[in-house]
Order: sequence, then C-alpha cells, then structure tokens
Amino acid sequence: MRIVDLRSDTLTRPTAAMRAAMAAAEVGDDVFHEDPTVNALEERAAGLAGKDAALFVPSGTMANLIACTLQTRPGDEVILERSSHLYRYEAGGFAACAGVSVALLDGERGLISPEQVAGAVRLEDVHQARSRLLWLENTHNAGGGSCWPLDRLAAVVAAGRAHGLAIHLDGARVWNACVALGVPLATIAAHVDALSFCFSKGLGCPVGSVLIGDRAFVTEARRVRKRLGGGLRQAGVLAAAALHALDHHVERLGEDHAHARLLADGLDGLAGLRVRRPVETNIVLLETSGSRLGPMEIVGILIGEGVRCLPMNATTVRLVTHLDVSRADVEHAVRIARSVLG
Ligand SMILES: Cc1ncc(COP(=O)(O)O)c(C=O)c1O
Repeated sequence: MRIVDLRSDTLTRPTAAMRAAMAAAEVGDDVFHEDPTVNALEERAAGLAGKDAALFVPSGTMANLIACTLQTRPGDEVILERSSHLYRYEAGGFAACAGVSVALLDGERGLISPEQVAGAVRLEDVHQARSRLLWLENTHNAGGGSCWPLDRLAAVVAAGRAHGLAIHLDGARVWNACVALGVPLATIAAHVDALSFCFSKGLGCPVGSVLIGDRAFVTEARRVRKRLGGGLRQAGVLAAAALHALDHHVERLGEDHAHARLLADGLDGLAGLRVRRPVETNIVLLETSGSRLGPMEIVGILIGEGVRCLPMNATTVRLVTHLDVSRADVEHAVRIARSVLG
C-alpha cells in the first residue's frame, strides 16, 4: 500500500546529500568546544538571527527547558498561550525542572493580544508570583502553523516590555514563518531576547535545535545543557546535517506550504469536515465538530488507506507537509480521502 505520512514534519529522513555531508564532517569534542562543525553552526545560527551567540542542543524541548530556566527564577510566572508547546507537550518540564507557574491566555490560532498580556501581569505584591517571562511560539503548532504578523508581534512584545518581562520565542518552525512572510530570521529575532529553532522539523535533519541569544545567556545555557545531560561530544556529524539544511532546505519550505494549501482545498467540506483557515505554512487542521465522525475515527479510516495523520484534540485532526511528501503524494492523499470520506 502506498503510504503518505502526514503525521509530522519530524518524520523526514536525511537525504543522500545530507548523509554525505554528515559523513564528511570534521569533528572534535564539543564539550571541550573543539568540534569545528558545531562551532561553525553556532556562529552561523547566531549570525542569521542577528544575535551574539548560539548553542546546539539535542531537541526543541531541551532548548525550551534551558530557555525557561535561565529567564526565570523558581516561583516566577510565565505568560503564554494556552496551547503552547511548552505548556502542552513537554511533560511539564517548566514546572518540574524550572519551577515556574504559568498564566495561560486563550489565543486566536495561537496568537495573543497586547491587552491580554497586560491583563495577565500580576501586581507587585508579596502574595503574588512574579510575572517574569513572555513566551511566544512562531509558527504556532497547535494554532495550525500560524505566523505572527510583524506588527502584532511588535505590539505584544511592547506590552511585555512595558511590564519588564523578558521575551522568549519558541521558534521550532520559525523558518516556516520567515519563508511565509518573506523576511529574514533577524527581522523576527530582533523583537525577542532569545529564541530557538529546530533542524529536525521542516529543515529535514535527524536531530538538533539551536538556542540563540546574547553571550551571557548562551554561556549560562551551556552550563544548564550540561546539567540536563545534553553535552554532546563529536556532534559535528549532526551539525553538518544542520549546516546542509540551512544551505538547501530553507527556501524549499515554500513547497511544503503550497502542498498544505493543496491538501486543505482537497479536504475542506468532506464529510462535514472544515479546514481551519488560513493555511499559512505546513500544518493543516481539520475541525470535526460539524462531522458525524470524530478525530479518532477519521484518523483510523485514513490510516487504514495509507494516509497517516494525527488526532490533535477532541475536535481536530492535524496533517503536516514536509520534505518527504511530494505534490503527487498530496494529490494521492486527497484522492484517497475523497473516496473514503466524501
Ligand atoms: C513549537 C514546538 N516547540 C518545541 C517542540 C519540541 O521539539 P522536539 O520534538 O525537538 O523536542 C516542538 C515539537 O514538535 C514544537 O512543535
């Protein structure tokens, strides 16, 4: 059976060219700062973001945990949108390891407003947790790959700064936002104190993320990474994949976005399903509330026909386009969905 795997953009396998780059990588012990390929990647990532320094880490989750730890103190509160990855999908690390609580805001496709931020800041009062950090996500995963318009990002950040908050961006898929908006990474990064992005999603690498910020932040981040067991040795083989991805897999994200729109147009209205619009990047959310079928049933039917996708919550199915999904795969997935759901 032909399989089209739309569960996640983390499913990509390294291309032959990426594997060749990995095999040829010069390596050293990165805990000693002696891996030339990791050093080159960190310098490149920092430069692209227009910041001082960067740190290669094994995962987006570790980048988030380090960032949350360093920009808060135990007992502080982080202001963030309710369906943020940090809150929903990271096993409670913010509470268990960073020791912080959260003020959750209801977003619109994951995006929040300056008024919401201002309203969530606590009084300076001995009874209250201290509001310390504003946490943003771009693109927003559970929001359906939504991008922060730059003016809205600026306004929300200004509201946070007016209350003395540090600003962090979980940019696991920020390159998708850059391509969708047609802006360089530095344009988005300029708004925030620190950010991360992942190589292991749309960029098609097997492993890795970077955490980026000012020099003091990244120096401290290196210590916390070690504490969490994330110090890597000859990680140049992974950094080489990441460098290859920055050279070859950024601009092509536009193809994933076009494929997502094609998928959305092909699925909208089938069996009472509704696509959440707009589809800005590589994530398609199908709302099932108008359908006689729930997310588990839809996913079960499609998987039975080789079209893999995931239930996102009680009323939503998620489909994600990526490097290993061609236009022909998307057309095939739509044909299958129309025949079994239509
Ligand atoms: C927005 C966002 N942040 C962080 C992560 C965590 O990345 P990782 O799976 O590399 O730990 C993900 C993973 O999907 C994500 O979507």
